[in-house]
Amino acid sequence: MKILLLGSGGREHALAWKIAQSKKVEKLFIAPGNAGTAQEGENVNLKADDFEGIKAFVLENKVDMVVVGPEDPLVKGIYDYFKNDDALKNIPVIGPSKQGAVLEGSKDFAKGFMQRHGIPTAAYRTFNGNTLEEGLKFLETLKAPYVLKADGLCAGKGVLILPTLEEARKELKEMLGGMFGQASAQVVIEEYLSGIECSVFVLTDGKNYKILPEAKDYKRIGEGDTGLNTGGMGSVSPVPFATKEWMQKVEDRIIRPTVDGLAEEGIDYKGFIFFGLINVEGEPMVIEYNVRMGDPETESVMLRLKSDLVDLFEGVATQTLENRSIEFDPRSVVCVMMVSGGYPGAYQKGFPIKGIDQVEGSQVFHAGTALSDGNVVTAGGRVIAVSSYGGNKQEALEKSFREAQKIQFEGKYFRSDIGADL
Ligand code: AMP
Ligand code: GLY
Repeated sequence: MKILLLGSGGREHALAWKIAQSKKVEKLFIAPGNAGTAQEGENVNLKADDFEGIKAFVLENKVDMVVVGPEDPLVKGIYDYFKNDDALKNIPVIGPSKQGAVLEGSKDFAKGFMQRHGIPTAAYRTFNGNTLEEGLKFLETLKAPYVLKADGLCAGKGVLILPTLEEARKELKEMLGGMFGQASAQVVIEEYLSGIECSVFVLTDGKNYKILPEAKDYKRIGEGDTGLNTGGMGSVSPVPFATKEWMQKVEDRIIRPTVDGLAEEGIDYKGFIFFGLINVEGEPMVIEYNVRMGDPETESVMLRLKSDLVDLFEGVATQTLENRSIEFDPRSVVCVMMVSGGYPGAYQKGFPIKGIDQVEGSQVFHAGTALSDGNVVTAGGRVIAVSSYGGNKQEALEKSFREAQKIQFEGKYFRSDIGADL
């Protein structure tokens, strides 16, 4: 079959790498892709949210399946666009409907959904410009630190955790006053939860689901989890506290009620669900939902998935996931992300990347790279990742760390402590 994968980051390179291994795939296209995805298939010069362009390409090239990497096209309704078009309606899109994508697109909707289905999450209330005074009063009933979340998508910047009531009051006024535009027209205020986070991924066909290997990502720029938040500096899988017993609680209290809840509410959902969880004294609680795979978690998770991903996608498309098998590699995987100097602040692009071909026994995934006159150059904040297996996470980390040192570009920075806290 012919598959079109949408997106251009490290997550998409990891998905492309895994899809390309399937015997079922005759041709893989990636739109727009990066210098790494070009090694796994053919890059197509189309934006992931250019629905008209995607339609023309899919029809002209007889694409059999579309796999969506990032949330943006999902929130904009690419699933529905295919479903409502006579020429496209029989081509499956792996990803939720527009209504399903609201689980990520609106924090208020996600919290309401969890409340309706008894899914454990922090207590909360939602406020808007007309209820600012009530919001300020609600803050007084909570203990520090205060968690404020813009309702809509803010490219990972919409959550503020404030140490004092005074700062929380000030930020609430600013958020409702338009700090993130329309995305913060509503603000969720929630109880602060203390614990270690873990990302759990599920592929669902709307009735059944398969749980993928879990992972933990490292969001802060500095070692020891210090400094500014980034898109993700690395990941590790498995996560030691995600034991069989803990995962059983996750499945019973969170995964099954979510999949059943979507069906009960008549929400068409055939794709990945990403559960951002926190372990509060042994009990899993949901911090957030995303409607796609995590980045850089995918760069670890794909190495641990032994089964054919395309076979699972077929199961999603035909609602036969129940009959498909899923197998994990028991080894540990650590992914180390190399970033541009200055990131997550201002940084320069266009520096040549050398030494990729020196990497041995580890997997290199491109994130922000491009081809310029045949050379691979930096093209983003997160540039390139190295993922390695190990008998345990220390071994996997040492291997990724060693191999990452072989890749060179001006201003290169990475963390050497991924997984070390666990
Ligand atoms: P989100 O965009 O909802 O994932 O939030 C971003 C980050 O803020 C999360 O990964 C957590 O580290 C933190 N966070 C969000 N909600 C809470 C909460 N209720 N308690 C503690 N930390 C939180
Ligand atoms: N690694 C977190 C995310 O993809 O949102």
